[in-house]
Amino acid sequence: MEKETLKAEIKRLAKEKNAVIMVHYYQQDDIQDVADVIGDSLALAQKAADTQADIIVLCGVHFMGETAKIICPDKKVLVPDMNAGCSLADSCPADEFERFVKEHPDHMVVSYVNTSASVKALTDVVVTSSNARKIIEMIPEDTKIIFGPDRNLGNYINSTTGRNMLLWNGACHVHEQFSVEKLVELKKQYPSAKVLAHPECKSVILQLADVVGSTQALLNYATQSDATEFLVVTESGILHEMKRKNPGKTFIPVPPADSTCACNECNFMRLNTLEKLYDCLLHESNEIHVDEAIREKALKPILKMLEMSK
Ligand code: 13P
Ligand code: SF4
Repeated sequence: MEKETLKAEIKRLAKEKNAVIMVHYYQQDDIQDVADVIGDSLALAQKAADTQADIIVLCGVHFMGETAKIICPDKKVLVPDMNAGCSLADSCPADEFERFVKEHPDHMVVSYVNTSASVKALTDVVVTSSNARKIIEMIPEDTKIIFGPDRNLGNYINSTTGRNMLLWNGACHVHEQFSVEKLVELKKQYPSAKVLAHPECKSVILQLADVVGSTQALLNYATQSDATEFLVVTESGILHEMKRKNPGKTFIPVPPADSTCACNECNFMRLNTLEKLYDCLLHESNEIHVDEAIREKALKPILKMLEMSK
């Protein structure tokens, strides 16, 4: 099917089936163009909690679909490609995390949303990059905290809040790859550009950033700022919405190290295609299921996050 016909068919099918198409900013441009809801991890969880749709098609990675299913057990949650995983979530196997948690029984457990349902079930409160700092600051200072799985986000929060959270040693392979040398070079080339970085990046990158924030926070900053040039240090899918909202401004993706490519794309996010989105909606295939006992345990820290983010 021709691309524009495919997009129209997806919209038609979604309407017919009372389905909502929820899309993360790291999805390919064509998928972003058919979104009913586009957002970062927090927005997608919040919108899932609010939707009246019967079907949620989550165009993102598996843990995002799982989070929607945990929040909405009575809805059908579909993902275009079941293999769209996440290296960060995979860096924290539930059995190893459970051992770590048991070794520190006097610690509260705070987990990044990029985790499996089983890890969330071991967690006291879930956070995303949008609300992590705010939620940690709401926890009494004398409370000991385990933070997992992203060591970069954990280090960033420790350094900005003065906390000493015990960190799980996980990371995202995309955000860890950004090249400091290439960023320094681009800063020389565009001296008035603002550097926008995601907190999953290494601290050497974050130290060079003007703004550190979630994809939504970086987009908001770029839209509100008087600056006209931006060096973007996160997955390059976000550039589509940045350019759409700011037609007069220039956005330059910062490249990964050891690559000739100018962009840094998440190979998991990019597994989703328009064709796969169409197929899963048509056949209502690739449905996410979560074991009910795990779902009940995982729901509590997600609801706590939604409450604490208000
Ligand atoms: P946010 O959606 O919170 O910006 O996180 C980015 C990410 O890596 C999602 O996988
Ligand atoms: Fe996971 Fe990183 Fe891809 Fe986000 S960008 S889905 S954290 S691997």
